[in-house]
Amino acid sequence: MSFIIAGTGSCAAQTNIDNTFFEKIIDTSDKWITTRTGIKNRTFLTDESLTDIATKSAIAALEEACISADELDFIICATLQGDYIMPSLSCMIQKNIGAHCPAVDINAACTGFLYALDIADSYFKSDKVRNILIVCADNMSKFLDFSDRSTCILFGDGAGAVVLKNGNSLKYINITAHGDKEILYIKGTQHKLPFIEKSMQEKDDNYLKMDGQKVFKFAVSTVTEDIKRALSDSNIDSSLIKYFILHQANQRILECSQDFLKEVPEKFPKNLNNLGNTSAASIPILLDELNKTKKIKKGDLILLSAFGGGMTSGTAIIEWSY
Ligand code: UT7
Repeated sequence: MSFIIAGTGSCAAQTNIDNTFFEKIIDTSDKWITTRTGIKNRTFLTDESLTDIATKSAIAALEEACISADELDFIICATLQGDYIMPSLSCMIQKNIGAHCPAVDINAACTGFLYALDIADSYFKSDKVRNILIVCADNMSKFLDFSDRSTCILFGDGAGAVVLKNGNSLKYINITAHGDKEILYIKGTQHKLPFIEKSMQEKDDNYLKMDGQKVFKFAVSTVTEDIKRALSDSNIDSSLIKYFILHQANQRILECSQDFLKEVPEKFPKNLNNLGNTSAASIPILLDELNKTKKIKKGDLILLSAFGGGMTSGTAIIEWSY
């Protein structure tokens, strides 16, 4: 016995930042950003915290699943970093919603949702739990160098959540990691230490760094390979998949996967044009949008696939259950 998805929720940050904002601060244009990425707008946290929007998405998912926070057996939160290093974001959410179960944060960058589902699957299979809350939330704007035009235009802040209950919706899941810190990374902060010579301490630069072309190549090859393997290992023909819900990084990456599968664009829903790349939150936010607009129905098969820093990747096939 594994899980069913019993409720979804999401919350974008409240401040809209369209491409014209970047035209004013760096050498770029709405045309370049739109044609190279598909992104027109993103939302950034200004007055609210990551914990606030993560909590709102969790409450929405609990309401839809018709369970109280007290009935949760575990909270898994996928994030690069919460508002505090300690307590974890999952513990902050646990307190805010009034839950009493264990809570842990995981970091698999943009693949966080798939890693969280895989961990949850093991818990359900071991009969340790009846209900799990997964919250994926990232505050990407705090890692961005707003003078680096190749990265700052790509990301947005957001949170998405699902409540999982016992059931048999999961048809396939696989996660991977290819340890590599060269093409996509954010260095951790390090205060000056009195016992290390100043000259030995590296210059502080904790902004997100990326070799865009290499990440693009990794994304296209990994996502297409992962999807091919998922379909073949689960013995499911791609024609039976209602939606390919892929990590929302770049419109051109979605199109490459679509061409590879010889599928129609309608089967590749997207929200990156409005929200940018919201890291771990991108797939659960999109899932919630499809669910709330009743585009996914009971019995539909959906394929989820993500890639991200690490480098990590993950793919799952789920039958929608309500
Ligand atoms: O969640 C995972 C995170 N990351 C990703 O998924 C990113 C994957 N990579 C990408 O999406 C693309 O590589 C980018 C959108 C980042 C860049 O697009 P590209 O088509 O690979 O452009 P490029 O890096 O080859 O740069 C082409 C040109 C360069 O100018 P020169 O050297 O040809 O004169 C860049 O300096 O475009 C320039 N450029 C820009 N121009 C205007 C880079 N960023 C910008 C910009 N506005 N914002």
